[in-house]
Amino acid sequence: MNNAGRIDPWSSEQSTDYARIIDQFGLSNVDSDILPKPGMLHRRGVVFAHRDLDVVIDRIHRSASFGALTGLMPSGKMHLGHSMVIEQVRWFQEHGADVTVAVADLEALATRGTSLSLGRETAIREYVHNYAALGLDPEKTNVYFQSSRPVVQKLAFTLGKRTNLSEFESIYGFHGETSLSHLQAPMVQVGDIVHPQLDEFGGLRPIVVPVGIDQDPHLRLTRDITQKTNWFNVKIRKSGGLNIALSIQDTNQHHFGINNDGSLDMSARKMVFTEIENTISELGFSDIRSNPKHGVIEIPGATIQDRSIIRMKLLSYEREMGGLGLMPPSSTYHRFAVGMNGDKMSSSKPESTIFLDDSIEQMERKVKRAISGGQPTVEEHRRLGGDISIDVAYQYLKFFFEDDDLALAEIRNDYESGRLLAGDLKNICIEKATEWLQNLSERRAMWEDRLSEYLAPDAL
Ligand code: TRP
Repeated sequence: MNNAGRIDPWSSEQSTDYARIIDQFGLSNVDSDILPKPGMLHRRGVVFAHRDLDVVIDRIHRSASFGALTGLMPSGKMHLGHSMVIEQVRWFQEHGADVTVAVADLEALATRGTSLSLGRETAIREYVHNYAALGLDPEKTNVYFQSSRPVVQKLAFTLGKRTNLSEFESIYGFHGETSLSHLQAPMVQVGDIVHPQLDEFGGLRPIVVPVGIDQDPHLRLTRDITQKTNWFNVKIRKSGGLNIALSIQDTNQHHFGINNDGSLDMSARKMVFTEIENTISELGFSDIRSNPKHGVIEIPGATIQDRSIIRMKLLSYEREMGGLGLMPPSSTYHRFAVGMNGDKMSSSKPESTIFLDDSIEQMERKVKRAISGGQPTVEEHRRLGGDISIDVAYQYLKFFFEDDDLALAEIRNDYESGRLLAGDLKNICIEKATEWLQNLSERRAMWEDRLSEYLAPDAL
């Protein structure tokens, strides 16, 4: 976060003041108890915040369809930090999500100068290959390139009508020197995030985007834009229940009975209202107070829990009438693992992280050199115990390598009570990491010649 209180998605600086971020940007806390079979990152509070995750959980409980989307910047090598999002995508996939992966080749071109051809090669060899090894199911995964999916670019262009330079300046800090390609990158990402909802990409359903907090500006932008396109707003009614209000725009005026001269065509307006009233009564509400003239329908008996189903119905009606009918994306946010030198993890600093194709020797050397929470002497360590909050070996067991909660708790107890020395803890980490990396490399070998199974037809 920079001093203007902004998050810069392209900076290697990462804010870790998570409580402040939740507060400032209105995120919700994740309660892993409400998740079906929570994954390791959920149970350990690593996935700490969300927007509208409840919408997705509800779909899981009802075995209803939903999508998960992630994107990758095809530059540099894939490291442990990148695997966290894939771990979550896999969790959503195992709970029924179809998965879309955006290769941000246009963004890499705009912000890193990576050519499209190099971006393509890196994406497949380095990222898709590891995603396969990490367990994504090729039957339910579609990888595409921003540069070769016209509908994403078309959305980027058309939805651009709903924002402007001032908003971009305030969200991203863009200024007069910002290149026009860079300026377009966030809109392309908006296109990435919303397009799986289009009828030809799976249709209207919730889409969840697990990200690191650095990507939240794009999610805020996307949510803001989708909401501006919606033809109906469902709000909480002051005296209890919900309100549906028309959002009149250039594109829907005529559907909503507004004549060219601004007067109201009551019969056209009433047709829309009858349709909505029928839909609402099919949902089981009998007290429906309709005011076509003012463009409002009140449902006193509806509760906040009914909001998302009512919204879905209205979005599909909006689509029938020719609107986009877009839902705001859901999102989850994970904490960043510490870099091995106590600083931030970064591809450009190989010592700060473990690459997924590091050799066992490289990994071992990095773990041995990593910051530990041990005391200066053995005597002091036995007496005072180690500090897990800064100990890289412990942190990496927790974030990546030890999926057994009991085993992890035992390690923690032994370390904090001084029974386990920093060197012993590093050896445990090395042992688990060896197993993890070997396993991954075997699975990479299995997928070597089959990566095209992950590519969408327009990516082949
Ligand atoms: N901007 C992301 C990054 O820097 C990549 C990305 C592109 C992305 N489109 C996305 C991430 C959609 C999540 C969702 O890594």
